[in-house]
Amino acid sequence: MKVKSQVLYTLAQARGAVVSGACMAEKLKVSRNAVWKAIKALEEEGFAVESLPSSGYRLSEENNRLSEEIISAELETKALGRKIIVLDETDSTNNYAKKLSASGAEHGTAVIADCQSAGKGRLGRSFVSPKGTGIYMSVIIRPDFSMETARLITSCVACASAEAVESLCKAETNIKWVNDLYMNGRKICGILTEASLSMETKALDYAVIGIGVNVLGKNVFDDELSAIATTIEAETDVKISRNSLCAQILNKLEEHLGKIEERDFLTEYRRREILTGNIITANAGEVSLTGKALGIDDNAELIVQLDDGTIKSLSSGEANLCRIKKN
Ligand code: BTN
Repeated sequence: MKVKSQVLYTLAQARGAVVSGACMAEKLKVSRNAVWKAIKALEEEGFAVESLPSSGYRLSEENNRLSEEIISAELETKALGRKIIVLDETDSTNNYAKKLSASGAEHGTAVIADCQSAGKGRLGRSFVSPKGTGIYMSVIIRPDFSMETARLITSCVACASAEAVESLCKAETNIKWVNDLYMNGRKICGILTEASLSMETKALDYAVIGIGVNVLGKNVFDDELSAIATTIEAETDVKISRNSLCAQILNKLEEHLGKIEERDFLTEYRRREILTGNIITANAGEVSLTGKALGIDDNAELIVQLDDGTIKSLSSGEANLCRIKKN
């Protein structure tokens, strides 16, 4: 690892504490001048490092530059995020990760971009991904669980992402079935999982889990989008670190995916889910259904009671939500 990377990793590990130049030089077995040069190079690249005369250096709380080293310093995972690719810009981190997957990228590889020029949402929609304000992250997984379990991935990711956001901003998030995170009635996060099946085994070869979170800024979206989307900062006044959020999502995701078959995450999912108890309209194939959302079953499907009393379970693959009316 380059001295610059090692210095950045050491500062991130110190979690806002001051580290002296001498201490870093000794730890990294380089000269104090090499440490000083590394700090200057980091500043030139846009990292917010504070130099405190006669005491040392610290990574500023204000630092908003994404970095593999800073995320790695906060990881508690075995596999997820053990390889991280940070990009200034790409069309879509999911597209980038799918190309990597097709050429054999390992389980846990994460692709993170500062902005996306063609961010993708579900159902062919776009995901607005402005520079410096959100996290746009795609994680490659190569799980060995069944296709039945694979259907739970997206709801499991929604739960992990909600927990990660809450742990950093200490505010409540809601989940709107199947995979949107909300704060105070507007969307802060969307998830798009794209999977590839093996022709031989008919099992999952890989899945790319794409997570987009609107983190910083108060006037990020135009008027039309502002009616339905918001940022964590706009709702809580808290400027959370985008690097910390990436790390926390990866930490929580590994924890939940590791026991996905036990379905424990569904308890936390159901606690946050906001359609339950409301009258909803959903598009299932060609038909439009209206009914009361009764809850989420053990396959993360939405249980709906139609007007004629019939009970139906909607899977995300076959239904998308049109309207919610408060009951
Ligand atoms: C949705 O809200 O419909 C899903 C949005 C998913 C957005 C994320 S951002 C990272 C990844 N790359 C993409 O192009 N999309 C996902």
